[in-house]
Amino acid sequence: MWKAWLSPGSSLSVGHGEMDEGHRALFRLFERVYSEAFKSPGEAAPRGSPQLPQRIEELCGALEEHFRVEEGLMEQHGYPDRLLHRAAHDGFREEIRFVIRALSRGELTPSLGARIAGEAPGWVEAHIRTDDLPLGRFLAARQAEGSGATALHARRTARRSGTR
Ligand SMILES: [Fe+2]
Repeated sequence: MWKAWLSPGSSLSVGHGEMDEGHRALFRLFERVYSEAFKSPGEAAPRGSPQLPQRIEELCGALEEHFRVEEGLMEQHGYPDRLLHRAAHDGFREEIRFVIRALSRGELTPSLGARIAGEAPGWVEAHIRTDDLPLGRFLAARQAEGSGATALHARRTARRSGTR
């Protein structure tokens, strides 16, 4: 499942390079956590890998960093739905904290494992489709406007200086 999301032509591409690369990096980290936490995808039995806490720490750090990057872009470009988007991140942060606490205490019960394996990809996918996709389009449009304006400015400057 993760591999399909990692491919460049994935339908989860939001059309903004920095965001897409961030999502791909997160999926890779999710995959590493899952392979440490589960014997096979979807299997809830805890493996008790000594690397698991470190993998989880990496994932949490990367998620927080990614949320901050998106929140920074939303502020910087005055994205109209930034409060709504940030609220979605906050909800996700809560879920992550809950899961991390349980995993780090060795409380990976079969039902929690099934929830993580069954629902976490759905949370991520739903967030990308519902919140990140409109943001990516907005930012891409801003970039296009910006580069159009820059090209226009360059042409005008060149005309004024007589280089064209
Ligand atoms: Fe987001």
